[in-house]
Amino acid sequence: MEMKIRPRRLRGSETMRKMVRETRMDKSSLIYPLFVKEGQGIKEEISTMPGQYRYSLDTLPKALEELLDAGVDKVMLFGIPDQKDEVGSQAYARDGIVQKALETARKEFGQQLYLITDVCMCEYTSHGHCGVFCGQEVENDKTLELLAKTALSHVQAGADMVAPSDMMDGRVGAIRAILDKNDQKEIPIMSYAVKYASAFYGPFRDAAGSAPSFGDRKSYQMDYHNRREAIKEALLDVEEGADIIMVKPALSYLDIVRQVKEEIHLPVASYSVSGEYAMVKAGAKLGYIEEDKIICEMAAGAFRAGTDLYLTYFAKEIAAFMDEGRIG
Ligand code: PBG
Repeated sequence: MEMKIRPRRLRGSETMRKMVRETRMDKSSLIYPLFVKEGQGIKEEISTMPGQYRYSLDTLPKALEELLDAGVDKVMLFGIPDQKDEVGSQAYARDGIVQKALETARKEFGQQLYLITDVCMCEYTSHGHCGVFCGQEVENDKTLELLAKTALSHVQAGADMVAPSDMMDGRVGAIRAILDKNDQKEIPIMSYAVKYASAFYGPFRDAAGSAPSFGDRKSYQMDYHNRREAIKEALLDVEEGADIIMVKPALSYLDIVRQVKEEIHLPVASYSVSGEYAMVKAGAKLGYIEEDKIICEMAAGAFRAGTDLYLTYFAKEIAAFMDEGRIG
């Protein structure tokens, strides 16, 4: 009998291919990071992240409306304060920039928007580190107190979820404890549990003015040669009461996303960070790559790896590509 050569790819039409897709994505899984700063009438383009802006409180509602129009209803707020000091006091000030942005967003959009905040000190400290100092070392325990205070103040100003990104030991537990004590038991914590010391954060530090003025973050962020450590970090955060585990960055760390997904029985978020965005924008501007196709492929890759929630500066574009049926 004659051997038939069978086609290796899926038989059939586009409809057939879509019908059996293994990775499904949905706009409800997208989170858009957004920068707010003090001032009036500001919509300032971030030079290393073309198409991304810093907004003041009065221009913020329009930006949020555009997001909602695109079908993205989750936002992660980052604050850029006017004044920084040694202990980052604007991070937990009652009238801090993030607290005011939360109130503005809530007032304008009610429950239509799901508001998440990044909880960290580095945008608020004069030295740009993620904690307070004792001599030359970041003082873990003192920082915990301030982070917990920051998280609570965000929630009291209207945050639906808090996302600690500082990498201090014990911060998820400290935040859980203060929220529980203040009748905020239902507020989930998305922990930046698996956060590598990465050059991919470069443009963000420019955007938020949060580059450390000396030293680096290697004492509290992870070495990218390591994988086991990711699971260890994630497990510790699970024990402390994290509700979602984040892996950051996304692009070079999809193996970690997959492993966290398989070993940690919590939803997994991945954050396609500023450097990933900047590379795509720069490459596209030079005509070296096709921006839209790359965005789709990066997003699909993250979800295929196991991402449940995808934080990305391309959230609006991805939502549009989903509408067009290009991915999803
Ligand atoms: C705050 C924080 C950073 C990012 C998110 N939260 C900066 C850092 O750790 O240096 C990076 C996000 C991005 O690069 O898009 N600690």
